[in-house]
Amino acid sequence: MNVVDVETPGGSYPIHIGPGRLDALDQCIPADATAIAVVTNPTVAALYAERAEAALARTGKRVLRIELPDGEAYKDWQSLNLIFDALLGNRLDRRCVLVALGGGVIGDMTGFAAAVYMRGVRFLQVPTTLLAQVDSSVGGKTAVNHPLGKNMIGAFYQPIAVEIDTDVLGTLPAREVSAGLAEVIKYGLILDPAFWNWCEENAQKLRALDRDAISHAIRRSCELKAQVVGKDERESGLRAILNLGHTFGHAIESGLGYGAWLHGEAVGCGMVQAAELSADVAGFGRADVERVRALVQAIGCPVVAPDLGADRWLDLMQVDKKTEGGSIRYVLMTRIGEAVTRPAPDDAVRAVLARTTQ
Ligand code: NAD
Ligand code: GLY
Repeated sequence: MNVVDVETPGGSYPIHIGPGRLDALDQCIPADATAIAVVTNPTVAALYAERAEAALARTGKRVLRIELPDGEAYKDWQSLNLIFDALLGNRLDRRCVLVALGGGVIGDMTGFAAAVYMRGVRFLQVPTTLLAQVDSSVGGKTAVNHPLGKNMIGAFYQPIAVEIDTDVLGTLPAREVSAGLAEVIKYGLILDPAFWNWCEENAQKLRALDRDAISHAIRRSCELKAQVVGKDERESGLRAILNLGHTFGHAIESGLGYGAWLHGEAVGCGMVQAAELSADVAGFGRADVERVRALVQAIGCPVVAPDLGADRWLDLMQVDKKTEGGSIRYVLMTRIGEAVTRPAPDDAVRAVLARTTQ
């Protein structure tokens, strides 16, 4: 088992990475917990809820299951209320522990519910998609979507631990693996050129979920994310670079309707668009743009964005948490392994949209 520690002002906790972690969940439940609520969806429940619950039952505490509808389209207030309905209906008190068993959608919603239920209860992240294992379960960003913008309603709220069972990736559809790999290569592009090179060399092994390659990718991604979040938990500066590709990507997601493209697919394509913009306004090398496009393609993500119309693109990109005083701020690369956040002229963005959409 690998352990990566996350240390933030809002809470410090371990990330445990290895096979079979689902069977050890009881070890993560504090002794003073009064009850445990497993929040999941029907897809993940059918595969893993019984195993998770069997481990949690060894604590001797009451274990409740809450199932939310599956999908990005359900990452909303209505689903959030289903959690509160179940917690209140079953009289769970403020010493209960919520367990997020699922991908990023379940993790983000469970974390938000934990942040506000009775003004805050403890929660455990048990991410079951690659994307959630390398990104969303770490760092305490929790949220639901609003029809006008993605992840617009939420809170920073850290879990008490992240339990990554690498075995569960075996049931993940190939498209979801590719979406998760988009977030993996993102870390190399913004922070670690050696890791980027390694991802280029191992793209096919990663897609095939080769055990050693995927374990290394998960551990390195968690280490890099933990470093950034440890320096800037609440995104007052540095953490914004973790949003590389997200300004374009979120526009794709909300523009096409949540769920049409997977979040990771939109981020992958958004990284190609951000690379193009970086070449035009931040001195990023043209040859490096092609490396970005080639790797995004090699991991199985789209590299051509939908044509939403340039005006609509710009409108959609305005609804971004990085926007300041009406000015959209983009994460741009200066070279592989180095990123900055800054505005860019609309004309330059329009030029990029013209050559990256179809
Ligand atoms: P997801 O949660 O929708 O999961 C993808 C699909 O895989 C779902 O149908 C799910 O039921 C299924 N699934 C989950 N585990 C499985 C398994 N082991 N085997 C088979 N099927 C499985 O999507 P996601 O890509 O995990 O997460 C995307 C979400 O994460 C977005 O809402 C995004 O905004 C959010 N996110 C948050 C952060 C953060 O820092 N909080 C970071 C990145 C992304
Ligand atoms: N996924 C971006 C962040 O956690 O800040």
